[in-house]
Amino acid sequence: MTDALRCWVHGAGGHAKVVADVVRSAGGVVLGFVEDARERWGQQHAGLPIVSFEEAVASGARHFVSGVGGHLGRAQGLERARAAGFELPVVVHARAVVAPSAALGAGTVVMAGAVINPDARVGLGVIVNTGAVVEHDNRVGDYVLLGPNVSLGGTVAVGARTLVGVGATVLPNLHVGADVRVGGGAVVTRDVADGLTVVGVPARAVGSGA
Ligand SMILES: CC(C)(COP(=O)(O)OP(=O)(O)OC[C@H]1O[C@@H](n2cnc3c(N)ncnc32)[C@H](O)[C@@H]1OP(=O)(O)O)[C@@H](O)C(=O)NCCC(=O)NCCS
Repeated sequence: MTDALRCWVHGAGGHAKVVADVVRSAGGVVLGFVEDARERWGQQHAGLPIVSFEEAVASGARHFVSGVGGHLGRAQGLERARAAGFELPVVVHARAVVAPSAALGAGTVVMAGAVINPDARVGLGVIVNTGAVVEHDNRVGDYVLLGPNVSLGGTVAVGARTLVGVGATVLPNLHVGADVRVGGGAVVTRDVADGLTVVGVPARAVGSGA
């Protein structure tokens, strides 16, 4: 990312702290955290101020980065920021690997140790968490969350807003639908329809998605 990156991070929880570190590793500056809960305004988080969205807008900063884990809050926060005139940079940790032929959508954050291989397409506002592997030719939809150490085999497709839990594996050439929840540690061995929750090895449906 450019060293002109000066941003507010949306959210003031654990995930937002990690995102702030990703921004700094990429040479950027974090001005503070934006919270919707007014009781947190004026407090500090990870050594930086927590402010309202209005205060962030008034600061004149150009960039806004999501530190919200939930897809709904992430999508709404990024859309509100875009509507208010912020740019939504792609932020990639200095120790992540992104192939030159991969494409990442606005607002996507790639954490330390993640690898995104050639010709992968990653949508808007996606979290590629610590150590996750997005193999060649993957299609990852908008607002997906790939947890730490997730592995997507080659030519996997993951639909919008899907959560792939920590350490889960999706075998090559499979299609995981939209609004799916893949449990932590699961191994997905067949296609998953929209809206399902699947867990275990091999992954089996246990309920509906997010
Ligand atoms: C799959 C998941 C979304 C289900 O959450 P939930 O709807 O709250 O489901 P529950 O905790 O009520 O569990 C439902 C059943 O599935 C089982 N289960 C839940 N998660 C499981 C998992 N990852 N692997 C195996 N079984 C699991 C539970 O033991 C329970 O079984 P039971 O009915 O026999 O008691 C959640 O457990 C999970 O794995 N989330 C991943 C979170 C994550 O990694 N986020 C990334 C953060 S960076």
